[in-house]
Parts: sequence; structure tokens; C-alpha cells
Amino acid sequence: MASSFDPAEYGSHIADVYDEVYADLSPEAAVRCLADLAGGGDVLELGIGTGRIALPLAATGLVVDGVEGSPEMVAELRRKPGGDRLRVEIGDFAVATTGRRYALVTLLFNTVNALPSQEAQVQTFANAAAHLEPGGAFVVENWVPDVGEFRRRRAVRVHEVGDRQVVIDVAELHPAEQRMTTTKLAFTAVGVRLLPANHRYVWPAELDLMARLAGLHLEARWEDWDRRPFTDDSTGYVAVYRAGRPGR
Ligand SMILES: C[S@@+](CC[C@H](N)C(=O)[O-])C[C@H]1O[C@@H](n2cnc3c(N)ncnc32)[C@H](O)[C@@H]1O
Repeated sequence: MASSFDPAEYGSHIADVYDEVYADLSPEAAVRCLADLAGGGDVLELGIGTGRIALPLAATGLVVDGVEGSPEMVAELRRKPGGDRLRVEIGDFAVATTGRRYALVTLLFNTVNALPSQEAQVQTFANAAAHLEPGGAFVVENWVPDVGEFRRRRAVRVHEVGDRQVVIDVAELHPAEQRMTTTKLAFTAVGVRLLPANHRYVWPAELDLMARLAGLHLEARWEDWDRRPFTDDSTGYVAVYRAGRPGR
């Protein structure tokens, strides 16, 4: 059965192995860039997960709050050093509120695609904007959809080839709804884990329009956290949306 877009569903499949599956990703460049963008102000991460980025960011001395749909992911965060100190609201980040405002709101690691529809994505931009202080920034990290890698609407992609773990995913494309059904397969000595995730994929310019609807504007789009230029060949990006009109 394919997974749903329920905010709690993804974590119910992956929480206990999430950090292991993504162990090869270093948070350092993201943390450096986000700390710089926060400028000493408070941060809210939508979809904070196991705290992969939030915990090292909080360790730089910043206040980091979170919204998260999966209690299992939050339980993993709480188990880590410093994880009991972060304020985390359990709920759907399209509508949940913390009752506070922040210098920086983040939606990282392709999580914008976890929302079920364009409408929910538009709502999330509005909710992020409502949590920003005047002049604050909303940062979205995402991949560029590559529908060319699908043949007859299906694709198999290799993520990791290691001597302890191999991770591939099988994906099915539904272009009419701009949706992708994906199941990651993690092979280890213990066996195979199926890690399903649905995506309502979005184009960079579509996010820019969602930002405009929310009263934000695109300040920068980089290829990565080291702020390399976004080009025709970029497969992912970090977009910075600023509250208020350009030049203010
Ligand atoms: C790909 S993980 C990213 C976690 C973390 N931001 C990171 O960079 O490692 C996406 C996270 O968003 C959460 N999530 C997905 N949809 C959500 C929603 N509508 N509301 C709240 N959390 C959601 C998932 O449970 C998961 O923890």
C-alpha cells in the first residue's frame, strides 16, 4: 500500500533508522549558512524531524523551535543530547502555530514536497510568513524535479552504495497531479526496510509565486549551502525568501 500524505505517516516508517539512512550527509555547511541568516535571532524549523540540522544549529547558541507531524521523529530528537531543550509543536506545519515570531523560518531537505497539494504548499508559505518578524527570512531547501529520469513513468535510483548499507528507491510519476510515489529500499545485513514517501513536487518558480502570495520575495537562490550559483545544471537549491518588499 502506498503511503499517504498524513503528516505523521512518513516518520512512522522511518524514524528509528532515519539518522542511519542519512548518516552520510554532513550538516555543517547548512548550519553555518543558517546561523549566518538568523543573525543571532530565533529560528523555527518546519518538519524538524530528528533534529539533524536543528540540534547542531541550537548548539551554536541560537534558540531553535520546531513543528513536526510525527511523534516518532520527535522521540528520536528527544533522545539526543540537547534534544529535551527544544520547543516542538506536534502538528501539521501548514496550519500549526507556535504563537511566536522568528528571524528565520526553515523548511529543509525537500520537505516542501511532503505536502499533499499546491493548496497545502501555499498555506505553508502563508503560515511561515505569519511566523516571521519584520524583515525575517524563510529558507526552503529542495530538489529540482527531473522527470527525464522516468521511463514510462517509472524510475529506479541509486542513493548509496556502501559495504554496510545500500539504498535505492523506486518511483512512479503522476504528472497530471504533479505527484511522485516513492519507496526507498534500504538493504543492510539485517534485511530490507521499505521506506515509503509521497511527493507533490514543485518547480523553483512555483515556490517563488507561493512566496509572493504570502508577501515574501525571493532574495537569493543558491545551488547549495556554500552559496554556489544556481545554474542550468543544478539538481537542488536553497531559496531565501524575505519578508516585505524588495529593497526594504
Ligand atoms: C525529510 S524529513 C526532514 C527532517 C529534518 N528537517 C531534516 O532536515 O533532517 C521531513 C520531516 O517533515 C515531517 N513532516 C512531513 N509533513 C509534515 C507536515 N505536514 N507537518 C509537520 N511535519 C511534517 C516528517 O515527519 C519529517 O520529520
